[in-house]
Amino acid sequence: MPDTSAWDDGKAREIVVRLAGLEGATLPILHALQDAFGFIHESATDLIAEALNLSRAEAHGVITFYHDFRRAPAGRRMIQICRAEACQANGCEDVVAELRSRHGVDVDKQNDDRLTIQTVYCLGNCALGPSALVDGELVGRLDAERLAGLCAGTSLEQAQIASGATR
Ligand code: FES
Repeated sequence: MPDTSAWDDGKAREIVVRLAGLEGATLPILHALQDAFGFIHESATDLIAEALNLSRAEAHGVITFYHDFRRAPAGRRMIQICRAEACQANGCEDVVAELRSRHGVDVDKQNDDRLTIQTVYCLGNCALGPSALVDGELVGRLDAERLAGLCAGTSLEQAQIASGATR
């Protein structure tokens, strides 16, 4: 697990310089930075732009285009909810909407420092959707109540017992 407590500009610069010579270096650099720090700090925009001879807008555009790159440290609980086609057919958008309206939790926004909940596209668990990864564990047949409990820090086991659901 990366140390997400501190961004280190010096170490970030070393990573950027080390990978800058690669073909299509932007994505490998961003992945390496996220692996090292758990997120991409704002200052990476200038480091990358300078090293790759890009405009600041171009570097910023790449960082913000990909959902996988976090721009703040991840919360202690990480939930990645699938919103691809099969999970949509199984009601994931209703789950996301209900999570927002009834529980005040937004997907793809930093809610607080305890929770990161973000959209992903297909976890290979399509038949049991809506699906999510909760701290790296695959969960299926999500509903808003169960998801809200998981967002609040309920263990996977407690959430399953409460909802009668299976993984
Ligand atoms: S579409 Fe959601 S797991 Fe495949």
